[in-house]
Amino acid sequence: MADVVVVYNTVTGFAQTYGEWIAEDLGARLYPWSQAKGIDLSGADLVVYGAGVRMSRIRGFHEFRRKIKRENLMGKVVVWANGGTPVHPQRDWRVPAGTFTKKELASGCYPFFYFQGGVRYEGLSFPEKTLLKIFSKRIQRYRHRGEWVVQVADNIAHGYDHTSRAAIIPLVNKAREMLGE
Ligand SMILES: Cc1cc2nc3c(=O)[nH]c(=O)nc-3n(C[C@H](O)[C@H](O)[C@H](O)COP(=O)(O)O)c2cc1C
Repeated sequence: MADVVVVYNTVTGFAQTYGEWIAEDLGARLYPWSQAKGIDLSGADLVVYGAGVRMSRIRGFHEFRRKIKRENLMGKVVVWANGGTPVHPQRDWRVPAGTFTKKELASGCYPFFYFQGGVRYEGLSFPEKTLLKIFSKRIQRYRHRGEWVVQVADNIAHGYDHTSRAAIIPLVNKAREMLGE
């Protein structure tokens, strides 16, 4: 059986939820990043990395990239990001564009999937909570920009959970394809 590893990097739990679902569907080993960074993954057949979005970037990817290089994981990595904003074809490029290098984007070396997570204030540090509260006030002025803004603006003050188990299906299918299943 293939050795698949799912690594999640979370602050408020959304990446853990997605990581658990993905690991369950792929029959994978599951680790939080704090643990995975100390484990040699060079023998794995596939490594799936996922984290929350911070200012259009995938949390911790910079550090994970070093692991990819060190443990020779290139070609067997799949990445997801979970953010507060809804899935939107015209916006989903923002996160990979903010995270991956031009070279990585051009080569398409990391199959990438974006899922909506949600927003939780519990567990955030004081500076992050403050940033989110500022953003939650500011976004009210941009409702005219579209339905996705309205959805976030309506819910952000109290937090919301828009995780969806069905959202992982394209990632799971891609992972199976890469494993030759
Ligand atoms: C400081 C801060 C910045 C954020 N920036 C973004 C962003 O640029 N785009 C987005 O979609 N969500 C953004 N979010 C929302 C988180 O990505 C979202 O809550 C995510 O699901 C958290 O995942 P986690 O619980 O696994 O850490 C931000 C949240 C915080 C606290």
